[in-house]
Amino acid sequence: MKRLTTLQLLPGMTIAEDVLSFDRQLIMRKGTVLNDNLITKLDLYNVITVFVEDSIAPAPSAKEIADEPPVSYTERVQNTASFRQFKEDYSLNVDTFKNAMNNVVERNLDLDVDALLSDTLTMINKADKWPGILDMLQNMQAFDDSTFTHSLNVALICNVLARWLKLTPDQIEMATACGLFHDIGKLKIPHAIITKPGKLDAHEYAQIQKHPILGYQLLQKQNVDDHIRNAALMHHERYDGGGYPMRISGKQIDPYARIVAIADVYDAMTAARVYRGPLCPFRVIEIFEQEGFQKYDVEYLLTFLENVVNTYLQCDCKLSDGRKAKIIFINKDKLSRPTVQCGSEYIKLADHPDLTIEELL
Ligand SMILES: [Fe+2]
Ligand SMILES: [Fe+2]
Repeated sequence: MKRLTTLQLLPGMTIAEDVLSFDRQLIMRKGTVLNDNLITKLDLYNVITVFVEDSIAPAPSAKEIADEPPVSYTERVQNTASFRQFKEDYSLNVDTFKNAMNNVVERNLDLDVDALLSDTLTMINKADKWPGILDMLQNMQAFDDSTFTHSLNVALICNVLARWLKLTPDQIEMATACGLFHDIGKLKIPHAIITKPGKLDAHEYAQIQKHPILGYQLLQKQNVDDHIRNAALMHHERYDGGGYPMRISGKQIDPYARIVAIADVYDAMTAARVYRGPLCPFRVIEIFEQEGFQKYDVEYLLTFLENVVNTYLQCDCKLSDGRKAKIIFINKDKLSRPTVQCGSEYIKLADHPDLTIEELL
């Protein structure tokens, strides 16, 4: 019997001792003969080393390989009970939020921040360590792209980012609430403009740009925290002063609005839209890198992007040349370009500017 790293494993080797996860769950039984899928499975469970028998059995037949269930990232997420629960809670939550918002905007009713926030927090608290909220959002792409779903997505992403920033529980709740109500002003803008596919003309664009002020005015009539109002007003401001409506910069922008700004842009790009499908998170990270970090609070943005990339470590992906690969090492200097494993080849994407990760599988 010998101990090997998962990278050294070959089809035909026999597992010599039960393989357990860090929380002592059985991943693979002693006596299992490995094939490519099973080696991938060990990798996906982040198993570093395993004991194998000294002799190698004949390679499993094509029929045996075909019988093994495929383990892709999407399947792993979608097959969990947490994801099914999340999907159910998500649509209920969107409906409740939609009714409440319409009551506030059209009938001038009071906004019950605590009730709406508690629905969102309950949903978040039900999620396990894995799949995380971002994994689940990434798999909710077929949902509609209304302001309501966008607001819920942004609230969830703000919550995730606030945790990554190690904020206090109260601050995490505040960031979540700021995300939830950041676009409330959009409900005052004609629906046809909000949902128009393709490019807006100058007049329509000017209308859309009013939503931060409209949101702020709406929230002024409500008994809500100043940070919630500020997030509605300032989430399109940019750290370098290039945003709107007031063109303020740096620390003049409310810290919660700086968190919402990142979550907002991330959701706008990753969620499927009426005019295009969802973008792969690595493409979104590349856009953030190309745009330059000066538009956002750099500490918030780096924390966000590093953690997003970590979320997708060990995921299968499709490269721009059509090949399938697995993301294995993060490149801290160029987060959008990790090292991937393609068959037996390791490709440092940072050294291949022509090659990108096109899709998570
Ligand atoms: Fe907005
Ligand atoms: Fe938004």
